[in-house]
Amino acid sequence: MKLLLLGPPGGGKGTQANCLVNKYSIPQISTGDMLREHLKNKTELGIEAKKFMDSGNLVPDEVILNMMKNRLNDKDCKNGYILDGFPRTLPQAEGLENLLNNLNQNLDAVIVINVDDEVIIERMGGRRIHPASGRTYHVTFKPPKKENKDDLTGEKLIIRTDDQKETVKKRLYIYHKQTKPLINYYQSKKMISFVNGENPIDEVTQNIF
Ligand code: AP5
Ligand code: MG
Repeated sequence: MKLLLLGPPGGGKGTQANCLVNKYSIPQISTGDMLREHLKNKTELGIEAKKFMDSGNLVPDEVILNMMKNRLNDKDCKNGYILDGFPRTLPQAEGLENLLNNLNQNLDAVIVINVDDEVIIERMGGRRIHPASGRTYHVTFKPPKKENKDDLTGEKLIIRTDDQKETVKKRLYIYHKQTKPLINYYQSKKMISFVNGENPIDEVTQNIF
């Protein structure tokens, strides 16, 4: 199963990808998580990407496509994968199509998680993450078992640097301008479905299934 989750920042792509990973035992491929890993390891790519990410802008297409070039060919992708946060622009979608053609693969479905901007701005203030694993919590909607501690490791949770209100607004602006056109792109290929991401997390998961 090769799925693409499309949706606004904070729409719940990571949260839902996590549920799909558990059900289908296929990896989640999040370009955001991959970039944050580079950042943590202070690689050249990470240092280059940081200024775009912190300001809520997109990292240039060629950097992203280069990073993704070999990923879909990794062993763990044999039975499929969930793309989360990639592609995000038309050139990236075309780049993905080339990568898939070369691997003789097709996407099976594109799922759009719809959430209103106002709901997202409300939500993002409460997001907490476990940086080492990318596990995501919410102080109200998905609280950890122990306050501010990761459920599995007990390590401290943090707030992402790009979750400040002004940066979230910028990310939403970029989403509407650069990523939303992908809905038409995939609609014309007749492989798109929509779910209401404003429902409770479990309900969204059921709808995706
Ligand atoms: P990335 O990490 O992909 O960020 P994003 O797309 O902005 O999405 P988020 O991870 O913020 O949100 P999400 O949809 O995963 O929501 P989540 O499940 O966490 O990218 C970060 C940056 O990297 C970009 O800004 C860009 O600079 C760069 N980048 C990455 N990919 C790129 C690319 N392809 N090209 C160029 N640049 C790229 O949920 C959010 C919160 O809400 C959580 O707290 C969660 O618990 C809660 N929640 C989830 N669902 C619900 C629900 N139904 N009800 C209530 N709460 C909910
Ligand atoms: Mg995410």
